[in-house]
Amino acid sequence: MTDLLLGQVLSFAGDPFTQGPDAARHESHGAVVIENGKIVAAGPAETLRSQYPHARVTDYGRCLISAGFIDAHVHYPQTAIIASWGKRLIDWLNSYTFPEEMRFANRAYADDVANRYFDLARAHGTTSMCSYTTIHPESVEAFFTAAQTRGLRAFAGKTCMDRNAPEALRDTPQSAYDDSKRLLQKWHGVDRLSYVITPRFSPTSTPEQLAALGQLWKEHPDCLMQTHLSEQTDEIAWVKDLFPQSRDYLDTYESQGLLRPGAVYGHAIHLTPREKDRLNEAGASVVHCPTSNTFIGSGLFDMSLAHALRVGLATDTGGGSSFSMLRTMAAAYEVAQLRGQALHPSQLWWLATIGSARALHAEHQIGNIAQGMEADLTILDLQSTPAIAQATRRAETIWQAIFPTIMLGDDRAIRATWINGKPG
Ligand code: GUN
Ligand code: ZN
Repeated sequence: MTDLLLGQVLSFAGDPFTQGPDAARHESHGAVVIENGKIVAAGPAETLRSQYPHARVTDYGRCLISAGFIDAHVHYPQTAIIASWGKRLIDWLNSYTFPEEMRFANRAYADDVANRYFDLARAHGTTSMCSYTTIHPESVEAFFTAAQTRGLRAFAGKTCMDRNAPEALRDTPQSAYDDSKRLLQKWHGVDRLSYVITPRFSPTSTPEQLAALGQLWKEHPDCLMQTHLSEQTDEIAWVKDLFPQSRDYLDTYESQGLLRPGAVYGHAIHLTPREKDRLNEAGASVVHCPTSNTFIGSGLFDMSLAHALRVGLATDTGGGSSFSMLRTMAAAYEVAQLRGQALHPSQLWWLATIGSARALHAEHQIGNIAQGMEADLTILDLQSTPAIAQATRRAETIWQAIFPTIMLGDDRAIRATWINGKPG
């Protein structure tokens, strides 16, 4: 079966952070051709209709066809506690997160939340995600099982913690290593699934646990490793107390073999010049979580990092306050404004697609519309509410037509998603 989708097609031929908005490609009357889960062609509608006369045509009119959004840092087990009132990070973790995560010892509960999370993600146009789980292997099984059923390219790993968490949420260096290894061997590379070695963050892992996971990563170098880095100033002070011998927060990971390409650090807000240099030299990725950083009061991410590092964009569900990558782009825009930088809509869109794909080292598979890429697409109505429709009425460029949807849009803007070449 060949599918041909008609609409306005947005893709990227380069990086708008280095090349400006001209790095984007916009086909006003465009088409995307899909076969066997892959994009086989994209271009002008007229040309492709005549090249593929027998394709099944789905006409999305003036809707925008984009690569699906990629959420590079989420905690799917926090789906039910999104938008919980709290104070600061550590208080929020203790009051809401840890009690909720305890429930994931129950596989049926984990399945229920995983399915709900994936339904919500898709409704918001998110077609790939990299998630934390809980310490329970059941939570990892639930995630990968639900993702596999949906045909998703999805990334996750068992969240490891062996201190500074309630007893019921603690593993040990050995059990973290053993459970992670078993889950990795079961799920990594199966269909579109990838296992990610996941120490939660230095405050909840002893140096012995970080070392055990560093060893596991050495044995499985093609995996990603994800953790949190320098999210709040009091967290950084705590890390300093817990690791008196470390030069800085990044060094608590680096010294245990947890810094190299494939390391994905969430937040990374309050970095020292040395940490920025080391991240750069090591080829690590960082993930900007702007709705979380404002919601929990963490701070203003330095977007100039995107000129050198692989920077992804993420909701950080449920520390973040929205499932929507549109809302997340809007928050990234606002945070950058507060640091004196006006991000262009092309840069925001790039971060939510290719930027996140690059952060996860998956940019050759997902995040763009081009021949050979996997067919994960999001179709957006650029006039999804009366407020957005009236704001776009005078648009003269594609970016003027898109920006109101970035700033005001939500799941009502998502007309359809295609995952692995199938509509939904
Ligand atoms: N740092 C360690 N764990 C978490 C978490 O669950 N959410 C956020 N936002 N930061 C963290
Ligand atoms: Zn997080």
